Amino acid sequence: MTKPEFRVFNSREEVAAAVARHLAETLSAKPAATLGLATGKTFIPIYAEVVEHFKKGEMSFAKAASFNLDEYVGLPAGHPASFRSYMEEHLFRHVDLPAADAHLPSVEGEVEASCAAYEAAITARGGIDLQLLGIGQNGHIGFNEPGSAFDSRTRQVELTQSTIEANTSDFPAGELPPPSAVTMGVGTIVDAKEIVLVALGANKTEALKAAFASAPSTDCPASALQAHGKVVVYCDAAAKGDIEG
Ligand code: GLP
Repeated sequence: MTKPEFRVFNSREEVAAAVARHLAETLSAKPAATLGLATGKTFIPIYAEVVEHFKKGEMSFAKAASFNLDEYVGLPAGHPASFRSYMEEHLFRHVDLPAADAHLPSVEGEVEASCAAYEAAITARGGIDLQLLGIGQNGHIGFNEPGSAFDSRTRQVELTQSTIEANTSDFPAGELPPPSAVTMGVGTIVDAKEIVLVALGANKTEALKAAFASAPSTDCPASALQAHGKVVVYCDAAAKGDIEG
């Protein structure tokens, strides 16, 4: 097991700046990089920083491609809380990533075939060079809830009640998140060449402990990352809490 490298900062702003720099360095070393992208509140300030880098001419996605981790099943196209809408609002519409190369899991039609096609498209690009990841309070990565097999691939999953509650604030008042989603699998995620996991706030400390300071277990899907040799955890001091290392 290789312990991940923890990079701890005093504020969310500093974390966002550091993660954006990491992405800028990846793209400068490999302009045609294949990126695995995440959504969630954690990534809003990070994408804002990325857009600033782009506007200053310090970053280009022109040769890159991206694959998002997950998408809700059953939201009408253009729903404001869909992850496609999130990505358009916070990143895609501001940068030069070609629209045809900005992928999210397809949740229309024959889902099983679309999931296999998603995996094949990632493989055809040579795999993911840098995977950005958040972490759920129950240790989920993407929408791989506790119990997800470490070798799982892109598939349709049911969300836990706690995840539905945690994400309700992303939806218009009175609306609940759908009960299911399509997510890259844990196995898809750990196939990435490098992983950057970001955690902000004290409500993520327990998940980080279960992920990196306990024996790996499918009870905490993020603990699968312990078997990966190249994981960097960016967090604020509140999320790091009393975790050693
Ligand atoms: C969501 C997403 C995850 C994300 C997590 C944490 O359910 N599917 O990819 O990492 O929850 O989100 P947040 O950053 O809002 O805490």
